[in-house]
Amino acid sequence: MAVIKMIWAQDKSGRLGTGAEMLWHVPADFKHFRESTLGYPVIMGRKSWEALGEYAPLKQRRNIVITRNKDFLAEGGEVAYSLDEAIALAETTSDLVWIAGGATIYQEALEVADELVVSYLDLDVETNASVVYAPKIDANDWVLVPEESDCQWREKSGDARWKVAVYRRRR
Ligand SMILES: NC(=O)c1ccc[n+]([C@@H]2O[C@H](COP(=O)([O-])OP(=O)(O)OC[C@H]3O[C@@H](n4cnc5c(N)ncnc54)[C@H](OP(=O)(O)O)[C@@H]3O)[C@@H](O)[C@H]2O)c1
Repeated sequence: MAVIKMIWAQDKSGRLGTGAEMLWHVPADFKHFRESTLGYPVIMGRKSWEALGEYAPLKQRRNIVITRNKDFLAEGGEVAYSLDEAIALAETTSDLVWIAGGATIYQEALEVADELVVSYLDLDVETNASVVYAPKIDANDWVLVPEESDCQWREKSGDARWKVAVYRRRR
């Protein structure tokens, strides 16, 4: 069984995105995402895949896109029809698998993930668009790993200061 890690960035209210537009520009966090996931399979929902736009497929990673649409083609990526199927596909080539969103897939994968890598952004996005939110991290299920987490904000990058917290599932 592969280790399953989830990675996301959220604003102070837990917002993840709108699907249509990028809500922030924090290049250092993009770099953190890239460096964390490079070389490993990344699993994402169809809407997140589409939100990547010109950045899809994420380079040097197996991109596995989950959809219920049997006709869907993910150019440069692979398609799976359930989270379980996506994980099984990813496990054929890697003992570490990243779940890269969005809200629907994070919520579903919260049951099976071993670790959460969360970037907290020091900003509150103002938008009239409907947004999706990060899953709630229940302290009964997840424990912070202090040696892998920031206690201070990292230097501002683009729109915001940011810090990373790593949570491991309580066993
Ligand atoms: N801030 C961050 O770190 C971060 C990271 C990733 C994404 N995002 C943002 O999150 C937003 C998208 O999130 P979202 O929740 O709207 O969509 P999503 O989770 O990316 O994708 C949802 C789609 O995945 C497919 N799906 C979900 N569960 C499934 C299942 N059990 N079996 C088969 N297919 C399934 C369905 O595709 P079909 O409709 O095709 O069947 C569903 O419509 C975007 O704005 C994106 O930019 C933010």
